Amino acid sequence: MERICLIGSEGKGTIAPEIYGHFSEHIGGVFRDGVWVGEESRVPNTRGFRNFVIEKFRAIRPSVLRFPGGCFAETYDWRDGIGPRAQRPRTLNYWYRRDHRVETNEVGVHEFADFCRMVGSKPYLAANLTAMTPLDMRNFVEYCDMPENTTTLAALRAKNGSPGPFGVRYWGIGNENWGGGGNMTPEQYAREYVRYATTVDSANLTDAKYVACGANSGDIGWTERFMREFRAKGCKLWGLSFHYYCGRAGDCVDFGEAEWNELVEKAGRMQELIERHRAAMRTFDPEEKVKIVCDEWGCWHNEGTGPSKGYNLFEQQSTMRDAVITALTLNIFNNNCDVVAMANVAQLCNNLHCLFLTAGEHAIVTPTYHVFDMMKAHQGARHIRIAGAPRGISVSASEKNGVITLTAANLSYGETKEIELTSFDEPLPVHACATTLCAAPQACNSFENPYAVTPSAPVELPFDGKTLRFSLPAASIVSVALSAYGNPE
Ligand code: AHR
Repeated sequence: MERICLIGSEGKGTIAPEIYGHFSEHIGGVFRDGVWVGEESRVPNTRGFRNFVIEKFRAIRPSVLRFPGGCFAETYDWRDGIGPRAQRPRTLNYWYRRDHRVETNEVGVHEFADFCRMVGSKPYLAANLTAMTPLDMRNFVEYCDMPENTTTLAALRAKNGSPGPFGVRYWGIGNENWGGGGNMTPEQYAREYVRYATTVDSANLTDAKYVACGANSGDIGWTERFMREFRAKGCKLWGLSFHYYCGRAGDCVDFGEAEWNELVEKAGRMQELIERHRAAMRTFDPEEKVKIVCDEWGCWHNEGTGPSKGYNLFEQQSTMRDAVITALTLNIFNNNCDVVAMANVAQLCNNLHCLFLTAGEHAIVTPTYHVFDMMKAHQGARHIRIAGAPRGISVSASEKNGVITLTAANLSYGETKEIELTSFDEPLPVHACATTLCAAPQACNSFENPYAVTPSAPVELPFDGKTLRFSLPAASIVSVALSAYGNPE
């Protein structure tokens, strides 16, 4: 029996909805025959976006969506993606050397803003710091958000179909500038960040939150050196974003217990990374004003395991292992909600750690999708501390509108765990409903078998109001909702 005890009075504050954020880059099949099919397509769509994705994505309340990169952003000119679609240029893009596909620019900032509105996401734009000027970036901001009938760029936006501003609150100032984004040193990048952010902020149209490029996973030196240089110069900075891909262990689908354990262990390092980056930042920001953002995370399996068999760059299958890693990672973010302000899983469709796999008229959700669905109640909720969380189980809990949500993931490949849940201080509501995502560790959804991994219907658990007992099958995720009135859904 494993014991989990809730301590509501020792929670870490509100879980930012932006922790449940997503990422959609112009790469491989994320848009092409993915999220975007075009208005003329036989595939049911709304203004070019695939209805399946719109409906399913909206259902999980995607708080924020990052676009258009990734590395793509650092050679992207936003002006190529505006104006009549048929007249937009076909351009060379960052990923051309990898997949030899040119960018059609069919999905520019207007289409992206439209998609965000349809699914209920806040747009998060990654702006080009490497290959455009600070004024180009400021003009992008002006184009997006200068009020109607003011400047020529606002008039151009109206002419292109959007009289009103897009309301972009999150701006990424560069991407991976230690690598594909200009191969800079942290000092160089910090100076560039200040130059660009200062120029962009001269407009200050939306009280925007600027995100700087942080480290590549455990590169604490980047964090320290960036923060030291940044502090010396100073200017507005809301978040510092590190990227952490936990990588792979064995094949994406064909793996055994050792590879399961290895990848789960690597994914669990997210906790240590948050602590180490936070500690490095605190030296230069003792009041902890700068937030931690992790705007790319996920598994990065071997290529060619997705339905396109390698045609779509980085497209990969997604099994119960990826689902458990999703729950583990989101639990870590929940449990660090006092310092983590945003996170974006990479990437939305036909790519790394994706939620959707599509091709022509085929469209399915992955096990990862279901985890985001099962955990959506944590968004904007009050965090509850867990005492005595047993080894081998990842767990987080929160409360919103009187409903306590607990998400537990069994990190064990083969061992079922019996759980006893109690509360140290606050009384638990008396109705407990559990939803379980459980299948063989290697199980995945495919076009042939789209529902192989699907959550159970909510099941009411017997509960005496003091100790709740439930089973956590091996390699599974269980979401428990405790409420006064039964199933809150
Ligand atoms: O997500 C794929 C790529 O991984 C992104 O473009 C880049 O930022 C990262 O290296």
